Amino acid sequence: MNTTADLDCRYRPKWHYSAQRNWLNDPNGLVYSNGVYHLFYQHNPDGDTWGNMSWGHATSADLHHWAEHPVAIPCDEQESIYSGSAVVDVHNTSGFGTPDNPPLVAIYTSAYTSGSPLAGLQAQSLAYSTDDGTTWMKYSGNPVLDRTSADFRDPKVFWYDGDAGSYWVMVAVEAARREVVLYSSPDLLSWEYLSTFGPANATGGVWECPDLFELPVDGDASNTRWVLVVNLSPGGIAGGSGGQYFIGTFDGVTFHSETTVTESVQADDTRMADYSWLDWGRDYYAAVSFNNIPDGRRLMIGWMNNWQYAAATPSDGWRSAMSLAREVKLVSRSGRPVLVQEAIDPFEGHGTENLTLGRQRLNPGLTWLPDDVSGEILRIDAEFEPGPAGRVGIVLRGDPQRKAGSDVSSAGAERTVLAYDSATGELSLDRTESGNVGFHKTFPSVERVAVPLEDGRIRLRMFLDRCSVEVFAQDGTATITDQIFPADTSTALALLAEGEGATLVSFTVVH
Ligand code: FRU
Repeated sequence: MNTTADLDCRYRPKWHYSAQRNWLNDPNGLVYSNGVYHLFYQHNPDGDTWGNMSWGHATSADLHHWAEHPVAIPCDEQESIYSGSAVVDVHNTSGFGTPDNPPLVAIYTSAYTSGSPLAGLQAQSLAYSTDDGTTWMKYSGNPVLDRTSADFRDPKVFWYDGDAGSYWVMVAVEAARREVVLYSSPDLLSWEYLSTFGPANATGGVWECPDLFELPVDGDASNTRWVLVVNLSPGGIAGGSGGQYFIGTFDGVTFHSETTVTESVQADDTRMADYSWLDWGRDYYAAVSFNNIPDGRRLMIGWMNNWQYAAATPSDGWRSAMSLAREVKLVSRSGRPVLVQEAIDPFEGHGTENLTLGRQRLNPGLTWLPDDVSGEILRIDAEFEPGPAGRVGIVLRGDPQRKAGSDVSSAGAERTVLAYDSATGELSLDRTESGNVGFHKTFPSVERVAVPLEDGRIRLRMFLDRCSVEVFAQDGTATITDQIFPADTSTALALLAEGEGATLVSFTVVH
């Protein structure tokens, strides 16, 4: 039998944050303050499944090495502490700090429990810290915004400074109605209704954890758009939980979408691929961005899991991890802005290159790489010209016992397969034989995304971190994030080409 330590060692990611013990879900209160990135998160301090929702807390100077701190905002007999955001109240508008010592203010959802007269309702509340996030006080006037709704949650608050004025804006959801609701405030204490967005595009599940931010298009500060992020569960593109986004304008009151395809709660499944998705995998949910990042950079983190099976993933004492932090940008593709994502690379400056291959023809079948080019924690960069070869890509986390095999389709050998199919134009990540897939019937899956080749080429960057694969295709135009639970011995890598005519342009492995 495995001990706790064995299991910790087996799946515990190195570069993806997980709580030392117990359960986590959504990232909360992402904020940068005095040189420190704060990651609060939905946390059960007392168990490895969802419950006792409180805000856990971790900090990092580089988004790679995280230090865990005591629970920041614990649940009590009146309320669970659901998702929300945190701001640096620079001008001390709330009065919780002083002009010289501006407070950190958390805006969270009070999910009232049976001990409260408001039991069953969800409303927005505040907690604040005047010691840079170390200790937190709940505001005595909570809740600060109550619509007497059972599904009003996940406030993202930011400072708006534009033509309409300067004030706090809150985006939150009426989850069951598939609506994003916007409010404004001069001081975080009193809130005034602005507008409602939705339902629109993907509506096959409740809307949760929204975000709204402005970005330059192609780096041009005189040409900006606003991005409205709407997570939903189920109803994501790969099944279960997922994140969609809309691009448009925001005049300080109303978000006007330029990417709405459908506008009703009747999910139109045939249009799913036409909507804009943050990620095409199964395990990137509740993604929201940091407040207060210098230099206008927009950094997001998602929960690397899916409500379909999150309670069943292998665990012994801790369960679930966050994604890597990703910088998002708007870039023009075919004349319209789309979101591209780049992982904040944990290997940069730390990693050791252990294989570089140059341009070469790929033999049909599998080409296994040498034994020393393997591992559970790797960054791999690969560029292929698939030509007419059919499926071309990489076998990840392969069973070394089966390395002799060269048959692409041979069943039974543990592996995760990332492949571009030149016949369909789709990139796929297949985890059906990735290891332990039997803990939930919806877990074995193949994720797919249509990706146009550029100059006949597909460029792939992927991060393996024990229990996950995060893929960034065509410089982050499409991403696929999936958990996997292979044997720790399954670390072999192979190049894959179904037929003749594929070329490997370059291939680098860093560990
Ligand atoms: C999203 C979510 C949020 C809620 C939180 C509760 O994963 O359901 O809507 O605030 O998790 O833990």
